[in-house]
Amino acid sequence: MAAAGSAIGLGSIWKFPYVVGQNGGGAFIILYIVCSLVFGLPLVMNEFLIGKLSGRSAYGAFRALTGTNRWQWLSWVFLVSVIVIMSFYFLVTGWCFYYMVEAASNTFAGMDAAALRAHFSAFEANALQMTIYAAIAIVLTASVLWFDVNKGIERLSKILMPILFLFLILMAAHMISLDGGTAGLHYLFMPDFSKITSKVILQAMGLSFFTLSVGMGILITYGGYMPKDQNVTSTSVQMIVLVIIVSLLSGMIIFPAVFAYGFSPSEGPELTFVTLPAVFQHMFSPTLTSVTFFGLMCVAALTSTISLMEVVIAFICEATSTTKHPLNRHQSTIVTALILVVANTLCILSMTGHADWLTVKGQNLFNSFNALSTNILIPVGALGTALFSGWFVPKARYQGSRVGSFLYLVVLRWLVPIAIVIIFLDSINII
Ligand code: PFF
Repeated sequence: MAAAGSAIGLGSIWKFPYVVGQNGGGAFIILYIVCSLVFGLPLVMNEFLIGKLSGRSAYGAFRALTGTNRWQWLSWVFLVSVIVIMSFYFLVTGWCFYYMVEAASNTFAGMDAAALRAHFSAFEANALQMTIYAAIAIVLTASVLWFDVNKGIERLSKILMPILFLFLILMAAHMISLDGGTAGLHYLFMPDFSKITSKVILQAMGLSFFTLSVGMGILITYGGYMPKDQNVTSTSVQMIVLVIIVSLLSGMIIFPAVFAYGFSPSEGPELTFVTLPAVFQHMFSPTLTSVTFFGLMCVAALTSTISLMEVVIAFICEATSTTKHPLNRHQSTIVTALILVVANTLCILSMTGHADWLTVKGQNLFNSFNALSTNILIPVGALGTALFSGWFVPKARYQGSRVGSFLYLVVLRWLVPIAIVIIFLDSINII
């Protein structure tokens, strides 16, 4: 449940709907589910197993299992990946905070689709405002880790995440009853396979790994905390099913709204933020409903940012522990928060056109970091962990675990690596 709480976040509620919208709907969703079950499940189980067998975090696990430093590079890939993700994740967490505040002041009352779009664009053009909200998200996350109150947050999220889940179900039911709502469901669940290209498959795989928190070494840490008698298979299946359900529910809320209120499925990253306020206006007590929803979205985002940031802090502590200047937890927290403030500010400046030189191939840093993590770093991390377990962990390590030996022999050695390499090379037109 802790792993599910960390995994369910902006990936499912913000990223999933807009990426589905950009990739044509139903057929993409089928790919997403297939990738989650065929590649995601063995990879989630594998990360849990690496953690459980080594009892370490992503930094020390590879050495503990092989007795060499040859796989340390993979820990660095994870570190870069997590930092790149946080460089835009906090920004979007800041959007959630902003929308909660705006909802509380009843700003969206009477706004139609065009006005809601204009409202988001004005916010997106305001570098100072966005920086402040991203900084609030960073400081809040860093404070939780600084004061070591993660346990309290975990207890709180055990209550709030199920409430979010219930809220999503109620909203989805409401959306389906809207005039025009069925067009949204049609878009979501009637596949049009002509939209599938290798780039689309790569995106579905990257999105699946992103939402499952796989390929970043984070689940290794969770595995490290698992009691010896905990069943890895059922834990993984439960976590994956929850993530898929929340992602689908988000889609079932957003797409009926898209068709009922005159938005376009391919609005892009602002999709959730422009469509939901339109929905809330027609629901019971719009202010209360929208503040509650964006508040719960903030909680979902924060449980994710806390685990993302924790990984970097732990990494810095461990990596500097053998140097002349070891950093303790508090110092590492400050260093991490500073790196994040700089990275998020650079993203914001590049988005708002204040720094034209901060672009990659004509894309601003927000889009570039988003694509770099989902389409390159996470698949490379996933490929690395599969190869590591499939080919380099002494087989004896998996003895006693039937699942482990099957994973080890077939899926991790062959299926996952070959699929990732083919999808990746095909999408960059090498095949
Ligand atoms: N899976 C999260 C999401 O979908 O929002 C992203 C994430 C959170 C990745 C926490 C890694 C992590 F530790």
